[in-house]
Amino acid sequence: MDDRDPKTALIVGAGQGIGLEFVRQFLSENRVDRVYATYRTPSSELVAIPDPRLHCLQMDITQESQIASAIQKIQTETTTLHAIINCVGVLHDGAMQPEKSLRHLNTDQLLHYFQVNSIGAVMLAKHVQPFLKHRNRAIFATISAKVGSIGDNQLGGWYGYRASKTALNMFMRTVAIEYGRTCPSTIVVTLHPGTTDTQLSRPFQRNVAPEKLFSVDRTVTQLLQVIDHLQNSDSGEFFSWDGSRLPW
Ligand SMILES: NC(=O)c1ccc[n+]([C@@H]2O[C@H](COP(=O)([O-])OP(=O)(O)OC[C@H]3O[C@@H](n4cnc5c(N)ncnc54)[C@H](OP(=O)(O)O)[C@@H]3O)[C@@H](O)[C@H]2O)c1
Repeated sequence: MDDRDPKTALIVGAGQGIGLEFVRQFLSENRVDRVYATYRTPSSELVAIPDPRLHCLQMDITQESQIASAIQKIQTETTTLHAIINCVGVLHDGAMQPEKSLRHLNTDQLLHYFQVNSIGAVMLAKHVQPFLKHRNRAIFATISAKVGSIGDNQLGGWYGYRASKTALNMFMRTVAIEYGRTCPSTIVVTLHPGTTDTQLSRPFQRNVAPEKLFSVDRTVTQLLQVIDHLQNSDSGEFFSWDGSRLPW
């Protein structure tokens, strides 16, 4: 593998929101030669991107068999990945809302938060590892959230979402240590995107000052700047959208 070999990105959770915008910006800025984009629910916006460099794959990140079969398809076309951006996350859906207090907790909902927000990312790290053994710079970035910071938690609430992002951060820190031995050119980070105008934040935007609510375009531009400045020594760290380090 040398610098002339094709560069390939994998964007996970690309059907809408921040992930979809990562796909758009990777393509429009010609950052790579090929983009694999995964979706859980078929996404008309993703498949409507008219670009032969884009390859879409279905993947529910809670099903390891679906991660494995998407990876198998990629393996038939390439052996290397240079940027993996995992944008999967859940805060609410038709059946669940973030818990305001202890009386709202239930086991199934807590498990679901961990399956989607934490375990999915580490299973992804397991399956993509063989693609990262090359010598070129590679990034494995997962979108976390500042509310997952234990040191920063002043408000309480959102038990499952918070704790699942905290677990995500620990999983990725641990992956960074193992990758440091097995694929040392890969930088593993978690990133806080800032409050971004997507369906995930929409029910909770009322108290957010307009200048603190980012468009997906702005968020992805900012996160790409952070990614572009990462050094090998940053692997295992948790960064905010402005490039500052967040407390664990
Ligand atoms: N928006 C914010 O203010 C904000 C703030 C802090 C952190 N974040 C984090 O940023 C990331 C992206 O969120 P977003 O704001 O772009 O929200 P979003 O538009 O709701 O995107 C979330 C993505 O995760 C996917 N997903 C959910 N469950 C999945 C599963 N089981 N398997 C595979 N994919 C699944 C969704 O797929 P479907 O399209 O099928 O639902 C969707 O593509 C998340 O990790 C979120 O926690 C967002």
